Amino acid sequence: MRLRARVLDPVSVDEARYLPDALVEVDPAGRLTLVEPWSGGPCDEDLRPGLLTPGFVDAHLHFPQTRIVGAASGPLLEWLRTRTFPEEARFAQADHARAVAEQFTASLAAAGTTLCQAYGSVHPLAAELLFQALDARGLRAIAGPVLMDQGAPDELLLPAGPALDALEALAERWHGHDGRLQVAVIPRFALSCTMPMMQAAGQLARRRGLWVSTHLSENGEECSATTSLFQAADYLSVYEQAGLLHERSIYAHCIHLSDSEWDRFAGSGAAVAHCPDSNDFLGSGGMPLRSVLDRDIPLALGSDIAAGRSFRIPRIASSAFDNALRQGQRTSPARWFWTATRGGALALQQPQVGALQPGLEADMVLHSLPEWVEDPQDVLNTLLFHQDAPPVLRTWVRGRTVSQR
Ligand code: GUN
Ligand code: ZN
Repeated sequence: MRLRARVLDPVSVDEARYLPDALVEVDPAGRLTLVEPWSGGPCDEDLRPGLLTPGFVDAHLHFPQTRIVGAASGPLLEWLRTRTFPEEARFAQADHARAVAEQFTASLAAAGTTLCQAYGSVHPLAAELLFQALDARGLRAIAGPVLMDQGAPDELLLPAGPALDALEALAERWHGHDGRLQVAVIPRFALSCTMPMMQAAGQLARRRGLWVSTHLSENGEECSATTSLFQAADYLSVYEQAGLLHERSIYAHCIHLSDSEWDRFAGSGAAVAHCPDSNDFLGSGGMPLRSVLDRDIPLALGSDIAAGRSFRIPRIASSAFDNALRQGQRTSPARWFWTATRGGALALQQPQVGALQPGLEADMVLHSLPEWVEDPQDVLNTLLFHQDAPPVLRTWVRGRTVSQR
């Protein structure tokens, strides 16, 4: 497949490359073979003035919250109790889970997200249906059910034994499937898990090479409840004690950490899923970006649907820019384009995607950019910061169309 289009590609954390007229060639296996200035010859489709970018990476969101986007005003624990848990209880019903899984995967693809790290509800069957929907849509994902054996309504609790058995069976079917799907062990957050379950979950992840993902230090009330429940010196030590902090783990939010916690986090090789829109909407606080950058901690962006309000990762990037500004740090737009694409892919250890470079797999998004936006900096600014910007026209994963307007 030979496509002609404008191209914007992340080169490094502070550089994006703009090609105003380019050839993008993809082989039948879905691998990029050429990305270079247009120099004539045949093409299958001329997509100009459309702009091709790599697909976006959403490193943290919740599939069973798809239908409560916008409901998250109020502090975390109250929102979980009043809006989130009642909605997630509905995922005991297969028909509901199946319908929302279809809506969720369609929403991701329509937003230009090609790789995500998605939390399910506690129900193993709902997680199975999520994997089926991700597979049918052709997306790339790391996903799993959440684990909860305390601190939530009874109907949402599942003891460690059956929960981990079901998770292992899920991993048997889906971990590594088609090189696109991986399974995560997701103790939801410390308040909803007993220490024995977290420890068993950590062992399962190690034994099967699964991802670990959870929420960390999001809300002040959550932090003090956690340290008092576990009689811990700090929040991170709870996950350390459970064996959950290592180079295949990803932690959402990471707002209220001490320097000691940041140092230990950095030493572990774990990644941060930065969810700035959710942090604003729930009033959780600002993620201290400098603590991450100074320590070279792997960083990705998360929409955190439904505490976050949009599936569109450029909106989350825009929010990340604002968050940094509030902390006195003027970041470059190129940094957020990188984090939304290649940086996010690397943080999720998917080096085969995230940029439009020969040899990588062709996960791409076509944006309907007006032809009068021509200056490279304006192209980048419009993509990230123009919140009424024209929508995504088409999304591909491995060269295959997964969404088209
Ligand atoms: N902490 C525990 N569960 C959740 C959740 O569903 N959303 C967010 N933002 N934080 C959480
Ligand atoms: Zn979350």
